[in-house]
Amino acid sequence: MVLPFFLMDTNDMSTTIRDIMYTAPVIPVITLDRTEDALPLAECLINAGLVVLEITLRTPAALEAISLIRKAFPQAITGAGTVINPQTLDQAINAGASFIVSPGATPALLDAASANGIPILPGVNTPSEIMALLDRGITAMKFFPAEAAGGIPMLSAIAGPLPQALFCPTGGIKPGNAKEYLALANVACVGGTWLTTKALMAEKDWSEIGRLAAEAAGLVSN
Ligand code: 3PG
Repeated sequence: MVLPFFLMDTNDMSTTIRDIMYTAPVIPVITLDRTEDALPLAECLINAGLVVLEITLRTPAALEAISLIRKAFPQAITGAGTVINPQTLDQAINAGASFIVSPGATPALLDAASANGIPILPGVNTPSEIMALLDRGITAMKFFPAEAAGGIPMLSAIAGPLPQALFCPTGGIKPGNAKEYLALANVACVGGTWLTTKALMAEKDWSEIGRLAAEAAGLVSN
């Protein structure tokens, strides 16, 4: 069942990754260099309608940013990205992440996510990787790096033999191709950095980020 975000209790571990994927058409992939930017950035994305946020664990500011956003905007769904092993998974959970995103899918990471009961979007880009996740009962995945790994033709081809897999493509998604990805039956949402580029973040250009976010929030998933 897909719940509007304001009805979701993001502390509720029964919220599935599929619910999260269908909450907004675009998940901004955010890398924060300054903790002070966390709240103004989150505010403009959330106000624009992008209520699912992925904060990548690529900077020292990331974990504190997750905690701050989680406290200030409990109605949003704040997850941690670039979670690559059980250690970073623990850090993300302790910071208050509501879901986990990974560029890949190691058994150790999947076991840790399952043991902690936290929704996870593991990364794949081949049929065998998808089949390995399906064997574990995982049907929601990040398709990464989307454009480099074959993009829309690859996802369309995968839908033939493996229609039960649902994807959030990330990597090379832009306003120019997001709509086409979202039209695919096996795509629930897309992720990307185009809303929060290094340049826009360095300039604290919240108004342009808000404009791009509103445009992204207006995209429609199939
Ligand atoms: C990521 O960092 O998870 C993705 O690579 C984002 O890709 P993009 O910068 O092409 O949107």
